[in-house]
Amino acid sequence: MRPLIVGNWKMNGLLSQMEEIRTLAKFTKRHAKNLNIVICVPATLVQAAVQASAGAVAIGGEDCHSERSGPYTGDTSAEMLKDAGATAVIVGHSERRRLHGETDGQVAAKAKAAGRAGLHAIICVGETEAQRMDGKALRVCADQIIGSVPPLGSNTSIAVAYEPVWAIGGGPVPTARDISRMHAQIRHALVSKLGASGHRVPILYGGSVDTANVEEILHISDVGGVLIGRASLATLDFEEIIKVASRDVEVRTLAGL
Ligand code: PGA
Repeated sequence: MRPLIVGNWKMNGLLSQMEEIRTLAKFTKRHAKNLNIVICVPATLVQAAVQASAGAVAIGGEDCHSERSGPYTGDTSAEMLKDAGATAVIVGHSERRRLHGETDGQVAAKAKAAGRAGLHAIICVGETEAQRMDGKALRVCADQIIGSVPPLGSNTSIAVAYEPVWAIGGGPVPTARDISRMHAQIRHALVSKLGASGHRVPILYGGSVDTANVEEILHISDVGGVLIGRASLATLDFEEIIKVASRDVEVRTLAGL
């Protein structure tokens, strides 16, 4: 599977920054044909970002409503994101769960809506610092998977991102051993929920991924890519991350891994 590199701009970015997407798209065409790259941007930027990327990188939204349309002031449906040219959407990010009280059930409904609209859903899970301290991290994330992953319809395509809440935005990064244990746990939960299809869902790691740690993280077993917040806002850092990931794929391919 080609590594999936996802940028998450969060509530950042203006139309005047579309040059950054153009630059990144050109860079990707030259240096990273062996990766799947998605930049998730605020809904206001999706259409402009799609134009600026000219097909070289995919553009995604950062959240969607579970309904197609209706009396939901301020919300954006998966169909609207698709209409604007998005091909993916993040659902259940910890900032949505924490600041908007989103439950696993709502996240599953959003992921299902993404599938209905033909968007790839990137479903986030992750424990808080207190839950890790209490020794509950593995259980919490397995439960989030069971509750937040919808049954897969014929056109549903998902990835899962493990993002420990305490590691997001410049916190400490879990050890390689902890990431590997958690990804094994998530894989197990995916297979018990989805059967054999659970083996094919990419599991990304997210939380303070940067130019210095991305190579090590991509080498951890069952890490299928990364979800990047802060470092995706700095074009040079993001390009460097893409370069490292792409070189890594080349080396592994040559080594027959
Ligand atoms: P970070 O954010 O890379 O800034 O830690 C990741 C995320 O919240 O998706």
